[in-house]
Amino acid sequence: SRQWRGVIREYADRLDVSEATPVVTLGEGGTPLIDAATLSARTGANVWIKFEGMNPTGSFKDRGMTMAVSKAVEHGAKVVICASTGNTSASAAAYATKAGITAAVLVPQGKIALGKLSQAIAHNAQLLQVEGNFDDCLDIARELDARYPVHLVNSVNNDRIEGQKTAAFEVVEVLGDAPDFHLVPLGNAGNYTAYHRGYREELARGATTRLPRMFGFQAEGSAPIVRGHVVKDPETIASAIRIGNPASWKLALAAHEDSNGYFGMFSDARILEAHRILSAEVGVFAEPASAIGVAGLLERSDAGEIPKGSTVVITVTGHGLKDPQWAVRQPDGSEVAPTVVPVDTDEIAGLLGLAAQE
Ligand code: F0G
Repeated sequence: SRQWRGVIREYADRLDVSEATPVVTLGEGGTPLIDAATLSARTGANVWIKFEGMNPTGSFKDRGMTMAVSKAVEHGAKVVICASTGNTSASAAAYATKAGITAAVLVPQGKIALGKLSQAIAHNAQLLQVEGNFDDCLDIARELDARYPVHLVNSVNNDRIEGQKTAAFEVVEVLGDAPDFHLVPLGNAGNYTAYHRGYREELARGATTRLPRMFGFQAEGSAPIVRGHVVKDPETIASAIRIGNPASWKLALAAHEDSNGYFGMFSDARILEAHRILSAEVGVFAEPASAIGVAGLLERSDAGEIPKGSTVVITVTGHGLKDPQWAVRQPDGSEVAPTVVPVDTDEIAGLLGLAAQE
């Protein structure tokens, strides 16, 4: 048996790396593809979850960050910079630490989940909370990149997309072909673009027989791509995808066209319902934004758009432990308070509905 070596070493022949590239890795990739039997039973499709919460910092960003930071170090960078709704900053901070360089991160003030903020701080990032939204943060990060000696590691950096395309390679390796449909959340639309690129490359080298239809989903209050225009003040509880002017918008439109794709949007209530189904019926704990593909599956299936027997992969992008409050908060706003009991076995057995054995 051997240890998984991270996506650069596992896929070196399919990435723009050479002997000269210092590989900065935390062992990212190699994440589980989980059969979602309850979702398959609901829809009649064969549904799989690509659980990207199992990456080293708890999100899919690590696949892109190992590439972006390795290439940055190859080019002599001492400081990487990013704007983030949380996960990119956590990942940049961890990989910069591994590389022995500095991560400077710009996040929208008060709008990123505590778990992600904690990660960036723990990994020693230079973290600044900007009095604006994610789109303001990205504008500033791009300006800093243009005018100062910093290296931008947002997904406008193609190295990020390149690293992230490896998730499609892993899906093909497990399924033996591409799925019929691949569903992802849409924020900057970098990941949507990356999966499409990965599947395109698999088709080109003859490893698959088809290109999956790429389906991407946004929150209703933050749905520029679905609505076809920039959203000035995006709002959603799915803070990871609270983005009004996606960086990879044009690339996503091309991937959508090439794959006969689909873009849809859901209310926060629908996103939280999908989050509950994923945790309580499938067994996968995700942050809210990550669950939106499940809402997409159910809605498209109800609409008759997902034929029975088709293979569907849903990427669950980030771990539930990053933003755990949504499990204990009920749709009506009240909090679940677990019952408090005395130190009394019989009383506890009674509360658990257990009958005593003869
Ligand atoms: N899911 C999660 C958990 C995310 O953190 C993000 C993006 C997305 C989905 C959307 O991916 O941007 O490639 O379309 N998070 C970025 C960040 C913006 O800063 O962490 P995308």
